[in-house]
Order: sequence, then structure tokens, then C-alpha cells
Amino acid sequence: MNGSRSVHAIVYAGKNLLSQTLSSIIQFRPGKYFASGYWPSAPRFGWSSSYRSCAAFAYRPYLAAPVLALAGIFALAGCGKEGSDQVKIPQATEMENGAESTEVSVQSMFPDQSWALPMENMGPLQGSPGITAKDCSTCHASHYEEWSRSTHAHALSDLQFQSELSKPTSPEWLCLNCHIPVGNQRETIVRKVKDGDLLQPVHEKNPRFDPSMMEEGVTCATCHLRNVDGRTVVLGPLGTGRAPHPVVADRKSLQKRCLDCHNVTYKVSSSLVCFFDTGNELAKSELSDRSCSSCHMPELERKIASVAGDFPERRSHLHYFIGGGIPKEFSLLPYQEKGGYRSGLDLSLVGYEWIPASGTLRFTIRMANKDTAHHLPTGDPERFILVKVIAYPTSEKAEKSYRIGQHWEWEPEARQIADNRLRSGEIRIWQDEMHLDEPPQRLRLEAVHVRLTEKNAEYMENTAARTNEKYRSRISRLRQHYPRQRIIHSEDILLGSPLD
Ligand code: HEC
Ligand code: HEC
Ligand code: HEC
Ligand code: HEC
Ligand code: HEC
Repeated sequence: MNGSRSVHAIVYAGKNLLSQTLSSIIQFRPGKYFASGYWPSAPRFGWSSSYRSCAAFAYRPYLAAPVLALAGIFALAGCGKEGSDQVKIPQATEMENGAESTEVSVQSMFPDQSWALPMENMGPLQGSPGITAKDCSTCHASHYEEWSRSTHAHALSDLQFQSELSKPTSPEWLCLNCHIPVGNQRETIVRKVKDGDLLQPVHEKNPRFDPSMMEEGVTCATCHLRNVDGRTVVLGPLGTGRAPHPVVADRKSLQKRCLDCHNVTYKVSSSLVCFFDTGNELAKSELSDRSCSSCHMPELERKIASVAGDFPERRSHLHYFIGGGIPKEFSLLPYQEKGGYRSGLDLSLVGYEWIPASGTLRFTIRMANKDTAHHLPTGDPERFILVKVIAYPTSEKAEKSYRIGQHWEWEPEARQIADNRLRSGEIRIWQDEMHLDEPPQRLRLEAVHVRLTEKNAEYMENTAARTNEKYRSRISRLRQHYPRQRIIHSEDILLGSPLD
């Protein structure tokens, strides 16, 4: 590996910006490889308090306001007024007495947006004790085990979600349409709002409400159950003809289901923007023929039903739905590797040059989005990757960082102002320099994938009082429970000595 890396460095260096003098200055001697960008064996979490020069804050001045400006997927601008801790509690009784106000149907407000309403209620499934994930687990034990560790299974209990849901400016009922999407998971269904105001939903009691299913987040039924002519059927990829429940085999539709939630770019109001573009990113990439499941649900051969009987092994798929490798609880960390986590960032030091006269260290870093099929990072606009170069012996001046992510402006109107994420297949060169008092002996090249900044986590802790009682105490100590980031690359490189 060492050999091929230095060959690569020199071959590449011939084309880079330092090319005038490069062949003589490349002194690449790869050092110990702590964790490669791929399949790191020992994931580690860092805390951004250790950043002395966290670029994130410099890029996001609005964070200085006492508000959570970047609210997960939904950017709730206008939340500058929400300094107080007023609690907004949805009231199922709010509906009937709307004599003077006009009720507007949600469907007319969001034409062709399937997520504006929850899925319809499902009836019983013939051959199964019920339609909850627990019910499916009686015959699909492995699928259940895997799914129960996934972010999907935690889409309601997610502490960050609960925190954002509690903001006075959050239209909770709308948020829940993707986080607990099946009708049966909903105590009330919202089909209309008063005066077209998203914060004045008209709640209808749901007779089919199942509280245990509510807890299951993006549950099996979300992707697998359909109402066909008043009968509940299972949408499956195979069509084995051996299931006790009715099956409609349609692998393509099942695979496309992801896009209903992961490909929604919509301005709900001037201050509320839904921005998931992962499906479009994939469509524009060279890997456009791939399905989301081809990477996020690794394939394997196994029996797909854990029931007695002569069932052969079939083409199956892991159900952990691993993404950026940062789970919703520390205890779920071990399942990231099991579920097939790999980083999409391919990072390397291509070359460096020490100029003794001015005490300048110049370096060239190569950053590539490899085999990811979509932007890196994708999804939630708050996410970013921070690439850092640290020279040793270290000092204030001996650190440089590069942020890969988006920037949004929330006032007066939500708007993306910059986006330097790595496109699928993109290779980018970062060239920079440091001015040091003494020649460096060693460089550390590091990358951290950040899901939630320290500052936003702190804000959430401080506003825990308004959150649902069930999650409140954990949210008040969010940082102890919620992994915010992950070191995805950490490499020490010994520099040729002496440098001067
Ligand atoms: C009583 C046992 C039982 C229960 C409960 C059950 N299944 Fe199945 N399921 C099976 C068997 C058996 C098969 C066929 C296995 C085979 O052919 O190898 C199957 C097949 C499937 C398939 C593949 C269908 C295909 O042919 O493409 C899916 C998807 C599936 N089940 C989902 C579910 C879901 C979701 C639930 C819960 C709502 C559920 N099952 C509940 C026994 C069950
Ligand atoms: C009904 C909406 C919905 C559908 C359909 C859906 N997802 Fe998700 N997905 C979510 C939500 C909501 C989250 C995040 C939950 C949270 O973080 O609180 C999520 C998170 C994820 C993540 C991130 C996991 C992580 O580690 O953070 C991946 C990867 C993912 N989904 C893949 C898929 C794939 C693949 C499909 C299709 C097979 C799919 N999703 C279908 C709603 C959906
Ligand atoms: C976010 C969507 C989603 C959720 C949630 C989900 N599945 Fe699946 N499932 C899929 C997709 C997509 C496939 C087919 C993948 C392919 O063929 O590329 C699949 C395949 C299957 C199969 C067929 C065999 C296999 O492994 O490919 C079974 C059985 C199954 N799922 C059961 C379950 C059960 C049980 C649950 C809940 C514990 C569940 N699924 C939750 C999307 C989902
Ligand atoms: C060719 C493989 C591939 C395909 C196809 C693919 N992904 Fe990914 N995806 C990845 C990899 C690799 C990562 C991890 C990137 C990282 O964090 O370094 C990832 C990460 C993610 C994440 C987490 C983002 C984050 O920053 O934490 C989500 C969500 C996601 N993918 C959704 C999808 C959806 C939805 C689709 C289909 C539209 C899809 N992916 C298709 C490879 C793929
Ligand atoms: C169109 C479907 C949809 C709606 C509506 C929706 N979400 Fe989500 N949400 C998602 C998906 C998909 C993800 C996972 C995205 C990813 O991992 O890239 C997610 C993830 C999240 C996360 C986790 C972010 C992270 O980085 O882990 C939070 C918090 C969240 N949503 C809050 C909300 C709030 C608050 C609302 C209502 C204002 C809302 N969502 C409405 C689909 C939706």
C-alpha cells in the first residue's frame, strides 16, 4: 500500500499546480496509516471542542444569534423570534369550532406532494398477526434485528428530531408525515389547515391509531405494505409464491420508494424549505443506473423467513440502511460497520514543499468523492466534512482546514448561498500553505464528518424544557447521548528529514 501511494503521489504531482519544481520537492514518505478512508476498522468520535480553528463557525455567522438557525432538514428561518420557551402543543380539539375561519385542504396547498399527507390506514394483513414491525419479526427475525438498529427505526425517537419538532415554528403534523408515515401510526390525521396557516392544523381523530406502531418510525409497512382494492398486500422484490401473506412482486417500485422522502425539494413557506436532493444528485451522476438499495442495502444470500419449512436461500438485503456512519445513539455504533458503512471520501496528501527562507510549508491535498452516486455529504443541509492538516510540532499557525458542505441564508427568505459539496466522482485539489517557526517533522491529515455542531447541540440542550416529556431529560444532556460527528480519516505522515 505504501509503495502504490507514493507512486500515485508522484504520478499525480506531475499535473498539479506546483508543477514547476515538483519533481525535486516531492518528499513523500507515507507514515503510519491509522485509518484509511475506506471501511475504517475503528470508528472514533471526536468532539468539536477540540477544534481550535473550526471553520464551521466562521462560515456560519448566523449561529451567533440565540437561535438554532439550521434546523435539520427543514430550515426554520424566522425562528429568530423564538427566544422564549413557549410550548406549542397540538390539540386534537382545535378542529370543530372553526366557524369563522376558512379551512384549506392540505392537498390543494401542496399539489402532487405525496408527503403532505400520511399514507392511508392499512387494514389487517392476511396470514400475519398484524402489521407492525414486531409482527413481521415473528417470521422475519433477521430483517427485524437489522432494521431495529437503523436510523429509520429511530426516526421518531431521534433526539435531534424531537428537539426540532418542539420549536414553536415547526408544523409537527407535516414533519411526522415522513418520520412516522403510515396512517396507523398517527393519533390524528391532518387534511386541512385553518386559513392556510400550517401552524393551525385541523386534527381528525384516527380510529386505527396504534401507539406501539407509532414508536417504530419508518417501519416495515412504510415500504412493504400497500392497499390494493381494499386488501393489504406485501410489496416484495422476489415473488417466491411461498409467503403466507399476499405478495405483489415489484422490485422496481420498492426500490423507488426511497425517493418519496429522500428526493423532496420544496419551499413550504418563505422560511421553511425542504431540501433533500439525493435522488436528483444520483440521476445526474455517472452511476445513475444504480438504485439506492444497491449501496445502502448490501446484498447477501440467506433464508428470508425465519420459519420452519423447506425454504431455500434467496437473494436478500441487509436492512441497516447505513448512511454517513453516524448513528442516533452511541450504542448503535457497532452496527455501522456490520451494516456496510464505508466513507465516500478518498483523501490523500499529494505533495508538499518546505521553503526555509520564508518558513513556508506548502501542501497539496487530493479529495475525491468515490463510488457514492450522490453529493458528499448529501441530505441534511447542516452536514459537512471538515478536512484538516496539522503540522507537528504544532502551534496555532500549524493548522489549516477546508470545509465541504452547504451554506444557507435564512433571512429574509430561506436560500442556499453556497454549496461546495463534492459531486459524485469529483476529484478536487486543495492547495494551501502555513507559515511556521520551525520545519515540520510530521503532518496529520484528518477528516471529520459532522452531523450536528457543538453549538447547535448546546442550543438544543438549553431549549429542552419545551420538548416532549418522554425525551426531555435526554435532550437536556444531548451531547452525552447523541453522536454528533465521526472521524472518517486520520493519517500521520512523516516528512522527509531534514527538510532544509
Ligand atoms: C407468519 C409468518 C410471516 C409473517 C408474520 C410475515 N411474513 Fe413475510 N414472508 C413469510 C414467508 C414464509 C415468506 C416467503 C419466504 C420464501 O419464499 O423464502 C415471506 C416473504 C416476504 C417478503 C418477500 C416477498 C417476495 O416474494 O418478494 C416480504 C417483502 C415480506 N415477507 C415482508 C413481510 C412484512 C413487511 C411483514 C409484516 C407486515 C411480514 N412479511 C410478515 C412469512 C411471514
Ligand atoms: C417515508 C419516508 C422515507 C422513506 C420511504 C425512506 N426513508 Fe430513508 N430516511 C427517512 C428519514 C425520516 C430518515 C432520518 C431519520 C432521522 O434522522 O431522524 C432517513 C434516513 C436514511 C438514511 C440515513 C441513515 C443514517 O445513518 O443517518 C439512509 C442511508 C436512508 N434513509 C436510506 C433510505 C433508502 C435506501 C430508502 C429506500 C429503500 C429509504 N431511505 C426510504 C425517511 C425515509
Ligand atoms: C425504507 C424501506 C424499507 C423498510 C423500512 C423495510 N424494507 Fe424490506 N426491503 C426494502 C427494499 C427496497 C427491498 C428490496 C431490495 C432490492 O431488491 O434491491 C426489501 C426487501 C425485503 C425482503 C425480501 C428479501 C430481501 O432481503 O431482499 C424482506 C423479507 C423484507 N424486505 C422484510 C422487511 C421487514 C420485515 C422490515 C421491517 C422489519 C422491512 N423489510 C423494512 C425496503 C424496506
Ligand atoms: C454507489 C453507491 C451509492 C448509491 C447508489 C447511493 N448511495 Fe447514499 N451513500 C453512499 C456512501 C458511500 C455514503 C457515505 C458517504 C460518507 O458519509 O462518506 C452514502 C451516504 C448517504 C446518506 C447519508 C449522508 C450523510 O452525510 O450522512 C444518505 C441519506 C444517503 N446516502 C441516501 C441515499 C439515497 C436516498 C440514495 C438513492 C437516491 C443513495 N444514497 C444512493 C453510497 C451510495
Ligand atoms: C419529505 C419528507 C420529510 C419531511 C416532511 C420532514 N423530514 Fe426530516 N428527514 C427526512 C429525511 C429523508 C431525513 C434523512 C435525511 C438524510 O439523512 O440525509 C430526515 C432527517 C431529519 C433529521 C435528522 C437530521 C440529521 O442530520 O440527522 C431531523 C432533525 C429532521 N429530519 C427534522 C424534521 C423536522 C423538524 C421536520 C418538519 C419541519 C421534518 N424533518 C420533516 C424527511 C423528511
